[in-house]
Amino acid sequence: MSSDLDSNLFRRACSMFATGITIATTCDAEGRPHGLTANSFSSVSLEPPLVLVCIATRSAVHEAFYSSKHYGINILAEDQQALSNTFAAAGEDRFRGVSWTPGPLGSPWLDRALAHFDCRTVERHPAGDHTILLGEVFAVRIEPGAPLLYFSSAYHTLKK
Ligand SMILES: Cc1cc2nc3c(=O)[nH]c(=O)nc-3n(C[C@H](O)[C@H](O)[C@H](O)COP(=O)(O)O)c2cc1C
Repeated sequence: MSSDLDSNLFRRACSMFATGITIATTCDAEGRPHGLTANSFSSVSLEPPLVLVCIATRSAVHEAFYSSKHYGINILAEDQQALSNTFAAAGEDRFRGVSWTPGPLGSPWLDRALAHFDCRTVERHPAGDHTILLGEVFAVRIEPGAPLLYFSSAYHTLKK
């Protein structure tokens, strides 16, 4: 597939879509946790309950997500910007000093996130330079608080 679309302009247009911020998580066969900051999360279906997240194929954690049977989604609270930066930085032990507990399927649920999802991976769709992971939601947990937002390549919070 090719197009004359200017890729920088495409990125900027996409950045006009305001989103929340999530950290997608999973565990590998040895039980080691993996995760990355992702704003490609979306709810998909209510019955059955389905969500999706898109993981870059070149990401260091792509293989861990692709081969795992489950993944978690943690929707970040407004004071968790540092956590978002940690899980977006390459080549770090992202879980060092981070408190989490396993969800019912084993996906890491990060402390103080606004909402947690634990999902069985039901489909893996190749999509350009990403893989779309469709997840059937097995369990959720909600905490009180306000969300961390992302718009025009910058963090924001809800105006009170
Ligand atoms: C706000 C924000 C949203 C992001 N959303 C995604 C996403 O949806 N999917 C993805 O694969 N990477 C996304 N990234 C990039 C990853 O978090 C991370 O920077 C990248 O995976 C680091 O490279 P590595 O995984 O090879 O270590 C996002 C980064 C930021 C800052």
